Amino acid sequence: MQLQLTSPLDMHLHLRENSMLQNVAPLSSKTFSGALIMPNTLPPITTKEMLLAYKKEILEATKEDNFTPYMTLFFSSSYDYNFLKSLKDDLLAIKLYPAGITTNSEGGVAEFNIEQLRPTLEAMSALDIPLCIHGESSGFVMDREAEFIPIYKELASAFPNLKIIMEHITTAAATKALLEHKNLYATITLHHLYTTLDDLAGGMLQPHLFCKPIAKRPEDREALLNLALNAHPKVMFGSDSAPHPKSAKEAPGCAAGVFTAPIALQALAELFEKYNKLDNLQTFVSDNAQKIYKITPPKKEVVLVKKEFRVPKSYGDVVPFLANQTLRWSIQ
Ligand code: DOR
Ligand code: ZN
Repeated sequence: MQLQLTSPLDMHLHLRENSMLQNVAPLSSKTFSGALIMPNTLPPITTKEMLLAYKKEILEATKEDNFTPYMTLFFSSSYDYNFLKSLKDDLLAIKLYPAGITTNSEGGVAEFNIEQLRPTLEAMSALDIPLCIHGESSGFVMDREAEFIPIYKELASAFPNLKIIMEHITTAAATKALLEHKNLYATITLHHLYTTLDDLAGGMLQPHLFCKPIAKRPEDREALLNLALNAHPKVMFGSDSAPHPKSAKEAPGCAAGVFTAPIALQALAELFEKYNKLDNLQTFVSDNAQKIYKITPPKKEVVLVKKEFRVPKSYGDVVPFLANQTLRWSIQ
């Protein structure tokens, strides 16, 4: 049995820099035709020069493959219309982080004051640059996404022509808000479709499942599955694959991030097959993103075959999601 996917896209990917990028970028470019590259590098991507240099570094590392890195800028309310216009052809979206909410986000937005954000958001809206948001408050960890929903709604109403992507949604509440505003869209990760808080912390603590936002309750996972498996047109695959060295994960003070990129398509095939929804996988991993972002990625045919695949214990010094487990699908 075979499954052919045309131009799979990962619309939320962390590639880091330097040696980590050299290790992980080819693992994405091998099976994906393009990816939306997150800007929370050290320091974050905030200028045209940084963005172009980062893009070049990625293209160099992935030159064996036909792969498009769709670039993002780290949101700042200091960006004005002229600056954004000068960058319009070099980026696909801008990523907003609340200050300090996750890895390398200290320079993010400290206070959600619409009037203060207005000039930049109006410029983005006029230039048709989507806004990707890590939507979490700084409240109790299980409530952070739900507490951010009023901000999503306020932004969606205040800027009706701005496309807003709710990144890596994890709750039933977020799936509901998504459907209530026509300019809200969302990415869903592999690990949030597979796990709940129980998998992370219900038995022995599993550092390689620790990420932000944290996986939630079974009913939340069900709500995500319902959208993803049916390839709802407002959702698309974004792995949020976020590599950290093993030493930073298996440590007191475990870094947040699940590394899924090299096994994502195989694991998605397994999941969609389990629910009898394989026919919807193409739409979830590519077609929806092409429509939402208005992009035409390089043509790449990826064939999955029904052959067991033992997930490696590590890729370099990074431990992947489902390490050492056997999946039912392999990349041909
Ligand atoms: O778990 C996470 N890791 N969530 C994020 O939002 C960022 C990411 C990272 O960059 O490590
Ligand atoms: Zn992320």
